[in-house]
Amino acid sequence: MKFFADTADIGEIRELAEAGLIDGVTTNPSLVLKANRPYSEILEDICKVTSGPVSAEVASIDVDGMLKEGRYLAKIAENIVIKVPLTLEGLKACRTFREEGTMVNVTLCFSANQALMAAKAGATFISPFVGRLDDINLDGMDLIEEIRQIYDNYPGIETEILAASIRTANHVKQAALIGADVCTCPASVIKGLIKHPLTDKGLATFVEDWKKTGQTIA
Ligand code: E4P
Repeated sequence: MKFFADTADIGEIRELAEAGLIDGVTTNPSLVLKANRPYSEILEDICKVTSGPVSAEVASIDVDGMLKEGRYLAKIAENIVIKVPLTLEGLKACRTFREEGTMVNVTLCFSANQALMAAKAGATFISPFVGRLDDINLDGMDLIEEIRQIYDNYPGIETEILAASIRTANHVKQAALIGADVCTCPASVIKGLIKHPLTDKGLATFVEDWKKTGQTIA
């Protein structure tokens, strides 16, 4: 499974990329608001740090606006993926971007049928939002499972399942067990995957015992 960093914070992205822990990045208007910098600058900086897919979301909700903004964003770097909402207008824009050779991430997916339509429009990635379904007392992982099954029923579908709105380490494990192609996670979730209390405890003991040997290595 590939990992994308779900953040517009260049410091977080740089740290994860240097550790070789990410294969790409996703951003959205709420993350840009938090980063509080011009969007083009953010995207330019991210694309200098990673050569993997970097999702840049359009702000317009009509097809002409999406096409204008998406074409502008796509010029920033070759690895920019245009992110459009899962609406009829968004899917029209998706089809055009794909004909122009631009990668597309269709976002705000909350049903298997929506995912089927995004694949039909040629989406490179479909982003089902797991956490937001959990928020309304549904099981977001059920959606990942349904989409996996449907896409696997039709080998012609090349759209990758990008599990989004990931909030916990358990979400990541479940998405990997189901076979999501990509998980996009906040930096804190990715770093949390490395942690285990028994690793910390075991390491502390090894450090202490090594000191007691009085030896040095190299
Ligand atoms: C990613 O592409 C989405 O925009 C993001 O994962 C949404 O996450 P949230 O529901 O935690 O805001």
